[in-house]
Amino acid sequence: MSHDTSAMRPRRFLPNGPLRGRIRVPGDKSISHRSIMLGALAVGETKVTGLLEGEDVLATAAAMRAMGATVERTGEGAWSVHGVGVGALLQPQAPLDMGNSGTSTRLLMGLVASHPITATFVGDASLSKRPMGRVITPLSQMGARIEASVSDQGGGRLPLILKGAFPAVPIAYRLPVASAQVKSAVLLAGLNTPGITTVIEPVPTRDHSERMLKGFGAELDVETDQDGTRIITIRGEAELKPQTIDVPGDPSSAAFFIVAALVVEGSEVLIENVGMNATRAGIVTVLRQMGGHIEELNPREVGGEPVADLLVKHSPLTGVTVDPAIVPSMVDEFPVLFVAAALAEGRTVTTGLEELRVKESDRLAVMAQALTLAGARVEETEDGLIIDGTGGAPLAGGAEQPVATHLDHRIAMAMAVAGIASCNGVEVDDTRPIATSFPTFEAMLDGLCG
Ligand code: S3P
Repeated sequence: MSHDTSAMRPRRFLPNGPLRGRIRVPGDKSISHRSIMLGALAVGETKVTGLLEGEDVLATAAAMRAMGATVERTGEGAWSVHGVGVGALLQPQAPLDMGNSGTSTRLLMGLVASHPITATFVGDASLSKRPMGRVITPLSQMGARIEASVSDQGGGRLPLILKGAFPAVPIAYRLPVASAQVKSAVLLAGLNTPGITTVIEPVPTRDHSERMLKGFGAELDVETDQDGTRIITIRGEAELKPQTIDVPGDPSSAAFFIVAALVVEGSEVLIENVGMNATRAGIVTVLRQMGGHIEELNPREVGGEPVADLLVKHSPLTGVTVDPAIVPSMVDEFPVLFVAAALAEGRTVTTGLEELRVKESDRLAVMAQALTLAGARVEETEDGLIIDGTGGAPLAGGAEQPVATHLDHRIAMAMAVAGIASCNGVEVDDTRPIATSFPTFEAMLDGLCG
């Protein structure tokens, strides 16, 4: 997306009564990316339904096309992918434009790393500030050659050029940060690497790559140590078999509506088909600890993932101290959790959130500024926020100055929720970034309110 400020689309989100009704949020972003990537590596046709048609996933689709796969939309959320086979990705003829998407970038770097091709990765202003050293290190150990840009914050930024290794060298890599993207980059590189590639994961992160790789027929094993460390092995030179995948609803998108329904008086919302994978469901646990009424109805399995319908009712919330051990299972949900905390009774303390500083924006600094502007009491620490809530009263809102979203979709959506739970509204400087993960967010919010 361009950062042309004249094209920015500001909006003031105003209180508009309770949220009532039933919604279905779009498909899971992580699973959507992976279904296109693995479909592009299987020989034959993979059919995907419920795919998230957000800009980030479309960037992955375009990149896989540029490397030889046929990726076509056949209906709403319905896509067909004809893959080239592991080892047969083609040299892209132009730079791969990753837009705003860290997931596309890091996972595709893994794929290219073990193919005999060279790819240039470029992205928008937000993505070009994000650290890529975390994938450059293991992929270089596997033999890939990477020339990356250096920014004010140090090395390993986009744009970068990656020359794949052929054959790549299998490694055993212990993750220094809890990151599903780094884990997935190494496993995907391992797909076309002779022998066994191992990832050692001391803190569990989302396991969609492991589930889907197995589903496509890769030889992948997971063992868990006594101390909870996961050891994931994948046998390379794999042959993937095409699949039919139904992508469950994204719990990270559902989270905005869960919090909105909890904090706006009189609300009751049924959110259908929400992914409830334990490596993603931390937000539901914490909101329940705060007193939130969230009922899981009709638990079932969709596309190899646990799913439920969530019935959410307005509830008085109480501040909590969030256990840092739960952070990886709700790493994207902190912006909206901070909004819930700002409206709860008492103090919420979060720690262990240093990773939030390297997301689409520095989510600790940006949310501290945004919530303060909306009238909340917030203190920023090195690795978290401390928030003293209103005890259920709406935030004041009404600031002249808009909240700065810094090209971060989750800041825009979290502050939209703050706006509908305020007296005088919250203005967001640019709603365009919402399209990266949830293009229908505003229509869904407007449809439930008023
Ligand atoms: C993702 C992993 C997480 C998450 C991101 C999606 C994935 O990033 O924040 O939105 O699909 O693997 P990290 O790996 O940086 O924690």
